[in-house]
Amino acid sequence: MSRKEGVYNFAAGPAALPPEVLARAQASLADWQGLGYSLLEAPFTSDEFKALLDTTRLQVRAALAVPDRYQVVFLQGGASAQFSLVPLNLLPPTAMAGYVETGHWSARALEEGRRYGRSHVVASTRGSGFDRVPAVSEWALNESIHYCHITPNETANGVQFPGDPDCGDIPLIADMTSEFLSRPVDIERYGMIYAGTQKNLGPTGLVIAIIREDLLGQARPETPTVFNYQLLIDRQNRINTPLMFAIYLVHLMLDWIEEQGGVETLHSHNIAQSQTIYRIIDEDDFFYCPVIPEHRSIMNVCFGTRDENQQQRFLGEADAMGLANLAGHSHAGGLRASLYNAQPDAAVAALASFMTHFRQRHG
Ligand SMILES: Cc1ncc(COP(=O)(O)O)c(C=O)c1O
Repeated sequence: MSRKEGVYNFAAGPAALPPEVLARAQASLADWQGLGYSLLEAPFTSDEFKALLDTTRLQVRAALAVPDRYQVVFLQGGASAQFSLVPLNLLPPTAMAGYVETGHWSARALEEGRRYGRSHVVASTRGSGFDRVPAVSEWALNESIHYCHITPNETANGVQFPGDPDCGDIPLIADMTSEFLSRPVDIERYGMIYAGTQKNLGPTGLVIAIIREDLLGQARPETPTVFNYQLLIDRQNRINTPLMFAIYLVHLMLDWIEEQGGVETLHSHNIAQSQTIYRIIDEDDFFYCPVIPEHRSIMNVCFGTRDENQQQRFLGEADAMGLANLAGHSHAGGLRASLYNAQPDAAVAALASFMTHFRQRHG
């Protein structure tokens, strides 16, 4: 496999993947498991694919120490589809869903959730420009709330929950798309976790969900069969053709995560990488970060130059140096460096050096 040298990719997702994983994936395109044809050509009913599904499910369980009373399921349609499928599967028609609004993606989840039932914003930081995570003690929770939806890492705004919130008996539903498998998680705090895999695990379109069993089995009658969580679990994720190659990539990424030492090791590594960039941002007034230090994301470092005119120049010069995809999300603007699990230290060092020199030249 060859590719243009000297490019570091800071995209927010789809995002950088380890070259060794890409090489393993490439090999499966010639011949998968000695079958004489590739995984792309293999039947999903084959024993080999069933074994892959089982193995990948077990890998997710092992990586996050998922307790027995939770099911792991693979879903299609991307994380955004879950904004609708969560209420269809888990929210009785007259019940109320709570939402914590901390940025672009939680706002999207709320907007879509409103189409399916009563929704209540239990806390929002919209007023302060999504610069923090509201403390659980500030959330307007009450017993009429059936579940509470959060987005622990706001990909577009660079805000990350400092830990797993404790909501007592109210099931927490978390869109962990941009932090899944980047840190250990106290799964017991959640009723359901879901994550699109295009950040830390590679493929687009695939979602991994971890669902507490007692919440299942209440899907509304109009829930499409292929998106019914309980039916998918009952039929071993094979109601229709699953995202086979995407699941294979996730399997390879889970192997890689284990080889790196697991999520604890990756977590420390991710913190160190993000601190390298935040330190430069905080050194003086040339750059700024709109998020309070305690709630800054270790996955998506969102920042800007105080002089807005410098931003386009920053992007142009960075690109010319091989530092790609540093523009902020279209709704948030500014600059963003995404530092998912697979981001090499060399990329972070190159960005840090570029930022320091850019400031010297233009500050
Ligand atoms: C936190 C979060 N949720 C949801 C999505 C949407 O994911 P998808 O494009 O898979 O629907 C994204 C995409 O960036 C995201 O970062």
